[in-house]
Amino acid sequence: MSKIHLETLAVHSGEMPSIHENEPITTPIILGTNFERHADGEYKHGWSYTRAANPNRTSWEGALAALEGGKAAAAFSSGSAATMALFQALQPGDHVIATAGFYGTTKILKELLAPWGLNVTLLDTGKLDAVRAALTPQTKLVFVETPSNPLMRVSDIAALAEIAHKHGARMACDSTAATPVLQRSLALGADLALHSATKYLGGHSDVAGGALIADQDDEFFAKVRAWQTTGGAIQSPFDCWLLQRGAKTLALRVRQQAANAQTIAEFLAGHKNVQSCLYAGLKSHPGHDIAARQMQGGFGGLLSFLVHGGQKEALGVTAKCKLIRRATSLGGVETTIDHRGSVEPPGFGTPENLLRLSVGIEHVDDLIADLDQALQR
Ligand SMILES: Cc1ncc(COP(=O)(O)O)c(C=O)c1O
Repeated sequence: MSKIHLETLAVHSGEMPSIHENEPITTPIILGTNFERHADGEYKHGWSYTRAANPNRTSWEGALAALEGGKAAAAFSSGSAATMALFQALQPGDHVIATAGFYGTTKILKELLAPWGLNVTLLDTGKLDAVRAALTPQTKLVFVETPSNPLMRVSDIAALAEIAHKHGARMACDSTAATPVLQRSLALGADLALHSATKYLGGHSDVAGGALIADQDDEFFAKVRAWQTTGGAIQSPFDCWLLQRGAKTLALRVRQQAANAQTIAEFLAGHKNVQSCLYAGLKSHPGHDIAARQMQGGFGGLLSFLVHGGQKEALGVTAKCKLIRRATSLGGVETTIDHRGSVEPPGFGTPENLLRLSVGIEHVDDLIADLDQALQR
């Protein structure tokens, strides 16, 4: 059979091995935590105790590996737990270079992992010379988020992987905003892809999850798995089932979200009450050419825009939204708007007049009409 496309993989990969005759078409939820040994002492399907592995997690991890084109995957209780496992697979004393600007990862690195012994440099990983200059003999990981949230900066995955590999370091990509539909980080050279599955993979704002997918099922990934299984940062069977259900429509959702986001970005970029719009799909975006090279089928459903004025004017826009919901998370089928300055601590660096939109699958004309009325002064 010829190479199977992502849309087909999303529906069929990670199917559970046969347990019963007359199987259901969709993977059932198996909540059992304790699995019976056969008389010979073996576990027929390899499941013994739920923390180590369970049928729904095995299925979901199989689907994740297929979607990202990786050799192995690990599903965590949240994107943050996946991020923690990635960094904790390093050693205290190691050095990490990571994309600056995302509050969640910054908080993890500064508040939890720096005291644990990790040395961290946060910078704009879109600037390759800055990354080269920050390398030290202890640098073991270059961690990028592209497109980045909420500044929508673009980093060149292939170039950064080359820099990291030449230095004997690994390169990992938080691909949450791009999804495997639009960006295949492993094929571009990354060793690991990370997702907050809470966002687009689940897609319905009803489940938290995280995922790490590895290009090689190697010693490093065994350490990641140890933090997942021995450390207990696992995704529950029900949540795996919800995520696998959501992922079946991933390609349809994400393509619609990206198409809507492109139209909205063009509308916002030309709006008299908008100072600027940050979206890699706009030709004026400094990372457009790189994004066009490393993303296929769109630039994602996430965009930010700066209104004229400051915090008051920005919050005024969110207050007037009628259809678009005010909410902090992203990646669901519904469009949400967030004033990041209200979430992040003072001085974090996100402009006070920035609003982030997570574009859903509604009709784009309805979204534009809502934004247009909300932007009127
Ligand atoms: C790009 C990105 N990575 C990681 C995370 C952390 O994921 P979670 O909230 O599932 O812990 C988030 C959450 O906002 C995110 O947007």
